Amino acid sequence: MPAVVLEAEGLVKRYGGVEALRGANFQVCAGEVVALIGDNGAGKSTLVKCLSGAEQPDGGRILLEGEPVRLASPTAARRLGVETVYQDLAVAPDLDPAANLFLGRELVRRGLPGRLGMLDRRAMRTQAAEHFQRLGVILPRADIPIGSLSGGQRQTVAVARAVMWASKVVFMDEPTAALGVVQRERVLDVIRRVRDQGTAVVLISHNMPEVRAVADRIEVLRLGRRVARFTSDATLEQLVGAMTGAIEAEDVA
Ligand SMILES: Nc1ncnc2c1ncn2[C@@H]1O[C@H](COP(=O)(O)OP(=O)(O)OP(=O)(O)O)[C@@H](O)[C@H]1O
Ligand SMILES: [Mg+2]
Repeated sequence: MPAVVLEAEGLVKRYGGVEALRGANFQVCAGEVVALIGDNGAGKSTLVKCLSGAEQPDGGRILLEGEPVRLASPTAARRLGVETVYQDLAVAPDLDPAANLFLGRELVRRGLPGRLGMLDRRAMRTQAAEHFQRLGVILPRADIPIGSLSGGQRQTVAVARAVMWASKVVFMDEPTAALGVVQRERVLDVIRRVRDQGTAVVLISHNMPEVRAVADRIEVLRLGRRVARFTSDATLEQLVGAMTGAIEAEDVA
């Protein structure tokens, strides 16, 4: 196995009386797509939130390239090269697609205007258009607020934003759930391309054919714990068995 980029060791996360994570382990290496699967409520989104700085775990450790890290916020995680497309969508509805790509990382103009904080909207529009084109993202218009795009189009912008900035790991929590056939294939292509550039991709999906088509490895969560790990040639029966507990497994390879 190549070097592990990001790792969860025995993560615990409680929401009041609910234990969403009960000592969850997880690993992802550079240049691989890992699918994180599990039934509703298994703890997938919670694990992703802990590994991307959106939530703070109550126990366990997170290691980035072998070093324990504290990801105090999504911004802190981003600075370390960890990007996320959240299930509960995080785009700014009032801003156009370009402004969403550069949200929090706006380009400023050169010289005095820049020092006064004036944004270089033209440069951001141009670079955004290039980026969308590279990824094969087609939007009806580039200059309208995201809020007036369809859910699927918004989702595609969120994916484009994450892969634009991710240098180490990109988490995608059900990025294709709201997408039609064509857009879904595009996102899967983007995932493969990002992986081939050496970035680690973690994909959460309930779509088993999609998981088996794109994932190099599969890790299974059940009741807040990793219960199994598979390569992409696992059968549907094995995956479903691990997710439902029909196959008794204890965090095995
Ligand atoms: N903010 C929260 N407050 C209280 N409980 C929460 C919160 N977030 C998650 N939980 C609980 O933690 C458990 C795990 O939830 P999580 O969202 O991580 O599951 P999931 O695997 O992503 O499920 P799904 O496939 O439905 O998205 C669930 O029992 C859920 O009710
Ligand atoms: Mg979820």
